[in-house]
Amino acid sequence: MKLSLKEKYDFYERSVQNPDVEVEFMHNEFKRYFKRSPFLMREDFCGTGAISCKWVEQDKRCQAFGIDLDNEPVEMGKERHLSKLRPEQQKRMHYRLENVLTTKTPQMDVICAFNFSYFIFKTRKELLKYFKSVKAHLKKEGIFFVDIFGGPESQKLVTDKKILKNLTYYWECQKFNPITHECLFAIHFKDKKGKMHKNVFTYDWRFWTMPEVHDIMVEAGFSKVVAYWEGDDEDGGGDGDFKPATQGENCDAFVSYIVGIV
Ligand SMILES: C[S@@+](CC[C@H](N)C(=O)[O-])C[C@H]1O[C@@H](n2cnc3c(N)ncnc32)[C@H](O)[C@@H]1O
Repeated sequence: MKLSLKEKYDFYERSVQNPDVEVEFMHNEFKRYFKRSPFLMREDFCGTGAISCKWVEQDKRCQAFGIDLDNEPVEMGKERHLSKLRPEQQKRMHYRLENVLTTKTPQMDVICAFNFSYFIFKTRKELLKYFKSVKAHLKKEGIFFVDIFGGPESQKLVTDKKILKNLTYYWECQKFNPITHECLFAIHFKDKKGKMHKNVFTYDWRFWTMPEVHDIMVEAGFSKVVAYWEGDDEDGGGDGDFKPATQGENCDAFVSYIVGIV
């Protein structure tokens, strides 16, 4: 049997999202740079808007705008997250079914694009246009947060798996073109009955590298662009603690952040 929409987004969020961690990271980093709390946040490519709904829970001054083109995740987000907020919090969460390239929102303290969603833009021209539009929608004290992954292992045609409670998550690199960096990734799930659900999400992307994203953010006019790197745990894995860095360990695969400061 096919996955229901509820299962599809439940499996997705359990496998690849951690809104508490993202909200805390953005809040703390903003405070470190500007010595005050951020209140206005825009989540580009928001999907279900899990991060935005978490954001408005922080403080009654917090508002969030979640931007996505696709009605399916947005409707699921309203059911999964918005409905669990208090009515007063719901009023501070704004879903917009729009394109991130053309959306017009008030100027924000923070804009984020997570789970590598900006990899959808395959040319430098398009990515620059997006980054410029983000900068134009940030206040003078504003920060743009994106995540990024990389390392030679992540460009090989392999499948990684993560075993969760009653669920196995698979991340497969199905195509990678070393000339253009065009790539195709897919998410598969095995449910608690052992049934495989293949290609539940697929991503036709360009695999951008950290120095490219850095340079395009600088070109878009951010005054400072900061790369982060994760600390090590005792077993040689990541410890979840990301700090600004100019040198990273030359590892096989990594996930990290780059931020543009207005
Ligand atoms: C990889 S998912 C990311 C979802 C969520 N941000 C997360 O962290 O898991 C990418 C989302 O971007 C949306 N999307 C793709 N192109 C878009 C665009 N130009 N403007 C707005 N949303 C877009 C898709 O509909 C999809 O929901």
